[in-house]
Amino acid sequence: MSTQGLRGAAVVAGLGAWLPPRVVDNEEISRYLDTSDEWIRARTGIGERHVVDPGMSTVDLAVEAGRRALDSAGPGAIDAVLLATSTADQLCPGSAPQVASRLGLNGVAALDLNAVCSGFVYALATGGGLIASGVAGRVLVIGADVFTSLIDPQDRSTVPIFGDGAGAVVLREGTADEPGALGPFDLHSEGELAELLWVAAGGAKQRTSENRSDYFLAMQGTAVFRHACARMAESARTVLDKAGWQVCDVDRFVGHQANIRILQVAAKQLGLPPESVVANIEHTGNTSAASIPLALADAVTDGTLVTGHKVLLGAFGAGLTWGSTVLTWPDVKPG
Ligand code: COA
Repeated sequence: MSTQGLRGAAVVAGLGAWLPPRVVDNEEISRYLDTSDEWIRARTGIGERHVVDPGMSTVDLAVEAGRRALDSAGPGAIDAVLLATSTADQLCPGSAPQVASRLGLNGVAALDLNAVCSGFVYALATGGGLIASGVAGRVLVIGADVFTSLIDPQDRSTVPIFGDGAGAVVLREGTADEPGALGPFDLHSEGELAELLWVAAGGAKQRTSENRSDYFLAMQGTAVFRHACARMAESARTVLDKAGWQVCDVDRFVGHQANIRILQVAAKQLGLPPESVVANIEHTGNTSAASIPLALADAVTDGTLVTGHKVLLGAFGAGLTWGSTVLTWPDVKPG
């Protein structure tokens, strides 16, 4: 098939992931909160999560994952670094320039993108746009979050769910018909529902609060659960239509790892078989913008995801935000 008119596609050329070494299992949480391993596993599918040690930050995690993605991609200049995160090291400036510097990429374009747990899919679309418009030839896209920094250690509704981590891909310019080319995107938001999942204080609207809990993530879990299932399934249908794929074409569904039940319900609503669902949440918890590249890296490493598989990526997060894309998995392994 002629590739005329197909140039300018963004193609996945490298993959990397990194989790901080400290593991906190459900038993440890159950020692100081009124919860149990049984409850957490049954309601979320989570058994343990990785948590940063004091002094370790989002930039540290992003650098580790970014370096591994660059190793995986091999030599070649990087023109831009996109960091999907909602836990930047400082409120201002964004953290992407510091990540770029630490990776030896001083001088390249670098910016943060905050779409919370949907951030990685949004950043893939943005990186693809930089490539399609000719602004960049190769882009490092990182999803990294220290979400535990937003969690009230006394809140049993959020502590068991979240963990820290980072994942990254290198995108290069290529053609739309080659393996690894990002397919169409479907991206959405619904800001009216921001309060379902937010940190009320510390930002420009409410710099300070006398209420300690305003500085931590407040989550209306049941409502978020309902929206996540419906939106992920709806967006997946849209993106499959745009790509000209049938549901039965999908070999692997790599969705945002928020709750194993959300992934299962979304897959069922779509008509995807349970074995197509990629899940590493048992060992990571919800790592926000890092979750999709972490799941990709784990799936490639354990052989669940292989070259040639048709992959559906689906994300949902605070904002609210959600989105999907598709690709055929290329011959790329984590660095
Ligand atoms: N341990 C034990 N019991 C807990 C608990 C915990 N950690 N957290 C809540 N409970 C209790 C509740 O108090 C409630 O008790 P009650 O029936 O006596 O009132 C009961 O468990 C059920 O709570 P509910 O909130 O209805 O449970 P749920 O089945 O909705 O599961 C979540 C809670 C948070 C796991 C689930 O709503 C969820 O995953 N939501 C989506 C969260 C998410 O994905 N956020 C990020 C989006 S990117």
